[in-house]
Amino acid sequence: MNYTTEIMDIYKETSPEENVLIPDDISVKDDRKYKLTARNINAFYGDLHALKDINMNFPQNSVTAFIGPSGCGKSTFLRLFNRMNDYIEGFRLEGEIILDDVDIYNEKIVIEQLRKDVGMVFQKPNPFPKTIFENVAYGLRIQGENNKSFLQDKVENALKQVALWDEVKDDLKKNALSLSGGQQQRVCIARALAVEPKIILMDEPTSALDPISTSRIENLIFELREDYTIIIVTHNLQQAGRISDFTAFFYLGDLIEMGRTHDIFTNPKNKRTENYITGRFG
Ligand SMILES: Nc1ncnc2c1ncn2[C@@H]1O[C@H](COP(=O)(O)OP(=O)(O)OP(=O)(O)O)[C@@H](O)[C@H]1O
Ligand SMILES: [Mg+2]
Repeated sequence: MNYTTEIMDIYKETSPEENVLIPDDISVKDDRKYKLTARNINAFYGDLHALKDINMNFPQNSVTAFIGPSGCGKSTFLRLFNRMNDYIEGFRLEGEIILDDVDIYNEKIVIEQLRKDVGMVFQKPNPFPKTIFENVAYGLRIQGENNKSFLQDKVENALKQVALWDEVKDDLKKNALSLSGGQQQRVCIARALAVEPKIILMDEPTSALDPISTSRIENLIFELREDYTIIIVTHNLQQAGRISDFTAFFYLGDLIEMGRTHDIFTNPKNKRTENYITGRFG
C-alpha cells in the first residue's frame, strides 16, 4: 500500500502557518487526491452560529478524528456529510461539501443515494429489532435487492469485514438486539459497509462500549481505512492518537487547528489545542 506516501505528499501542501489543509491549493476537478472537501462552511441553528468558516479536506483512505469540548460543533459538522441536519428546524448551511467532484447539497442529489455513499455509525449501537441477517441486508433490500444468494454473500462479507462472522454465523436468524453492545456496534458497522459506501462517519462509536469491544472497533477502523475514507468524532484523545491520520480540534464552532495526528499531539501550534490535549480545559 502506498497510501502513507500519498498522505505525506498531501500533507506537504498544508499551510505551515495555520496547519490547516487548504482546499484552494487544489482544484477539486483535476485532482482526486481529496475524496471529500468542506469549503467555507457556516452553519446555524436559528441565531446560534454553530460552525464558523470551516475549510477542510479529507484524503482518500484516511482516518480523520474530530476532537473538542462538548457543544463545539463536531457532530453538527459530521452530520453535514450525509445531510443529516437537513430536517432540523431552523438549521441553515452556507458553503459547499464536495464528494468526488459533486456538491452534495446540489438540488439534483438523491438523498438515499448519498446516504448509501456516506454511511453513518452512531454513539449508541442502534440495530433494528430484526435478525442479524436482516440488519446487515437492510440497505441492500432498500435498494430493491432480493436475490437470496447475492444477499447472503454480501452479508457474510460485511460480517467478515467487522470480524463478527465467526461469532454469529450460526445465529444469523437471532435478533440483533440479543447481542452484546460491542457485537451490536459491529452489526451496525457491517450494515453500513454492506452497501459499499465511500465514506464512513462515526460519532463517538465506542463511547458506550467496554475496553475490549472498544479495542476491537479501533482495530477495525484501522483496517477499514484501506478501503474507505473515515471521519470519527471522539472524546477519547488516546483513541484519536491510536487510529487517526489527521486530527481536527474544534472549539466553540471554530476549527482551531488541524494537522497530522502525531503533530497535533506532540507539537500543537495553537495554545488552545495544547491546553485541550493536556487536559487543562474541556
Ligand atoms: N438540533 C439542534 N437544535 C439547536 N441547537 C443545536 C442542535 N444540535 C446542536 N445544537 C447546538 O449546536 C452547538 C454544537 O452542537 P454539537 O452537537 O454539534 O456539538 P458536539 O461538539 O458534537 O458536542 P458533544 O461533544 O457534546 O457531542 C451546541 O451549542 C448545541 O447546543
Ligand atoms: Mg456530538
